[in-house]
This record gives sequence, structure tokens and C-alpha cells, in this order.
Amino acid sequence: MTATALLQVQGLHAHYGKSHILHGVDFQVRAGEVVSLLGRNGSGRSTTLKAIMGLVPPTGGSIALNGRDLAGQRPYTVCRAGIAYVPEEREVFANLTVDENLRMGEQSGSAGAARWTVAQMFDYFPRLKERRRTMAGSLSGGEQQMLTICRSLLGNPQVILVDEPTEGLAPKIVAVVADCIRDIHRRGVSVVLVEQKLAIALKVSQRVAVMGHGRIVFEGTPEQLRANPALLKEWLAV
Ligand SMILES: Nc1ncnc2c1ncn2[C@@H]1O[C@H](COP(=O)(O)OP(=O)(O)O)[C@@H](O)[C@H]1O
Ligand SMILES: [Mg+2]
Repeated sequence: MTATALLQVQGLHAHYGKSHILHGVDFQVRAGEVVSLLGRNGSGRSTTLKAIMGLVPPTGGSIALNGRDLAGQRPYTVCRAGIAYVPEEREVFANLTVDENLRMGEQSGSAGAARWTVAQMFDYFPRLKERRRTMAGSLSGGEQQMLTICRSLLGNPQVILVDEPTEGLAPKIVAVVADCIRDIHRRGVSVVLVEQKLAIALKVSQRVAVMGHGRIVFEGTPEQLRANPALLKEWLAV
């Protein structure tokens, strides 16, 4: 492990029943870095995030945050250790207001993590502020995505795992979500982003990792990936 790795995933395996999905995933995230996890549908990106969170039990390998092994811990423990997770299915509390949803996310957070407040969330997303007394269930998909990201940040994580945040959103909202990822980065929080829109991933990331057949088949900078058409074609069908 290098001295600068905040999150280090090594040899991670995971199964769904008898199906062997992750075959030894290796990647690392340094402090304050955005790393995109790319790959075709079904390549195991979501499973990797779920295995890190303990939502899918890892069947091998290690997951270390600041050197502390979290593999096999329960989601609650992983979250308390400083890893937040925004799943593909925007999980808002539909019958609570926007404001109440955000208050639910407030936590003291782990040592050394940036401190976020509800007021900042409203600054970043004025739309959420306008709708603070609206039931979360009646927000648009984009608004629910923002709310879920904001709620996760209020737990003051060191790393936030975000699974396809721009899926199904209007282009204007996609840009807002991309700006939000950059803001998170500016505040020194690390991000692991699963993103199908390659242009967005290349724009917001410092490094990218490409998954294929349940492994990382490439890890490098966005520039290195862009300069490698064979790789793009083989693993991303671009
Ligand atoms: N709950 C599940 N039960 C069984 N197989 C699953 C489940 N979730 C995903 N899979 C399978 O695991 C593989 C990886 O899925 P996933 O991690 O969701 O890929 P990605 O997020 O890269 O599209 C796929 O073949 C998918 O069909
Ligand atoms: Mg997925």
C-alpha cells in the first residue's frame, strides 16, 4: 500500500449465490481524489461499491480505509468509519420533507473529514432550498439525486461512493450533478464515481479504473484512457 492511499481495495471477490461476480478487484483512492469506475453494464461496478459497503459480503480480499480493514463489516460500521454510499436507486424518505431528509443525514462524521452543513447544501442546490418543505417523494429524479448526495455528505464522510448519479437526468441537471462532484472534490472529500457518461467521468476524475469480467483491466489518468482507443473499444464499447 502506498502512503497516500485513503481507500485501498485489494483482491476483492464477491458472489451472488453461486455466481462469482468479482474476481479480485484492485484499486486505490487517494485523499481528495475522484476516481471513476468505468465499464460496460454488468461488469461489476455496482457490486464493487456494494461489497465495499458490506451490502454484498466480500468472499475474499481486503478493503482498507486509512489502513483499517473493513472487509466483511456491516454497512453501518463501514458508514461510521467514513464511507458514504449513494445507490442507483435514489433512496429518499418519500414521506418526509426535503429538510427532514437532510436532518436525517446529519452526523458528526469520522475524524479528519470535511464538515458539511444543511445551509451549505442549500447554497449548492438552491432548488432544494426552494423545495425544502416539499415531500421528497414528489421531487423530480434529478432533485431526488441531489437530495441523496446531500444527505450522504451530511454524514461527513471521507469517501463517497456514487453509483450512476446522472442516469435518466435531463442534460441541465447532469451538469449540476457534475459540478456537485467537483465541489465535493474541492472540499477534499474523495469520490468513487460509477458513471456511464464517459465525457462526464473524464471531466470530473483525477483517475479512472476500467472494469471487465469482474476485474480492473485499466487504471490511469483520463488522458491516458482517452489516448487509448483500443481500450475504449474493447471495454467501454466507445
Ligand atoms: N442481486 C443480484 N443477484 C444475482 N446477480 C446479480 C445481482 N446483481 C447483479 N448481478 C449480476 O452481477 C453482474 C455484475 O452486476 P453489476 O455489479 O450490477 O454491474 P454494473 O454495475 O457494472 O452494471 C451482472 O452479471 C449482474 O447480472
Ligand atoms: Mg451498476
